[in-house]
Amino acid sequence: MNIVLCDSPEQAIRFAADTICRQVAARPDGVHGFATGGTMDQLYQALVPLQRQYALDWSGVRSFNLDEYVGLDADHPMSYRYFMRHNVFGPLGMQDARTHLPRGDARDLEQECRDYENAIAAAGGIDLQLLGIGKNGHIGFNEPSSSLGSRTRIARLSQDTLAANQRFFPPGAFQPQWAITMGIRTILESRQIVLLALGEQKASAVAAMAEGPLSAMCPASALQMHPATTVVLDPEAAQLLRLKDYYRSAYSPGVPSP
Ligand code: F6R
Repeated sequence: MNIVLCDSPEQAIRFAADTICRQVAARPDGVHGFATGGTMDQLYQALVPLQRQYALDWSGVRSFNLDEYVGLDADHPMSYRYFMRHNVFGPLGMQDARTHLPRGDARDLEQECRDYENAIAAAGGIDLQLLGIGKNGHIGFNEPSSSLGSRTRIARLSQDTLAANQRFFPPGAFQPQWAITMGIRTILESRQIVLLALGEQKASAVAAMAEGPLSAMCPASALQMHPATTVVLDPEAAQLLRLKDYYRSAYSPGVPSP
């Protein structure tokens, strides 16, 4: 893992946004893997104005999101499709037909998972996958105990995740308990991965991911097996790492400097 220690959340967000913009500039017909959640929301808010400075054309970019809630249709305001369409795809000028999220309201959810895997393969795989990390070490909705060899599937959300995501749902509203998520193996097949983590609530998951054992109890630790993962951290998310001096000295160029 290339671990990039930034001086502030703003710098970490800018670093991740720059990495995405450079990728689109280099490959305007590339395949992007998107994520959602509070961290990604901050990243997308920075990405939209930044990509104008790069003068990027997103009309040829294809994308696959990591996950979608089961039981919400694409027009539901709490669905990830709705969020992405309004906050990312539209503002970036992406073509709706080139964007993909699992359909959480599919009649045959198992078939939907197989179709999603096939669609990623048919697109030639994912060039750059963006990730956040859960407080419990999840990536996508691969909760602790998920198989490190898993593929796109229906997954039950853990109590930790349900509690963390409750803030996105109005009181009394239906909150989905299940999601369709890319599997860990699906994620590991991406050619390049950028994981962004901000804040002290992510510090123990980040330490377990980078410096703990490879274990299904911390699904993000599977990234230790990936040859091209960059982990971008603010000081609070990095605070429990033991090898900070090493990461500073080993920072590898080729990605924008923080
Ligand atoms: C959502 C997703 C999740 C989030 C993670 C962190 O698509 O993939 O793994 O990235 O739950 O979410 P925040 O940033 O809200 O803490």
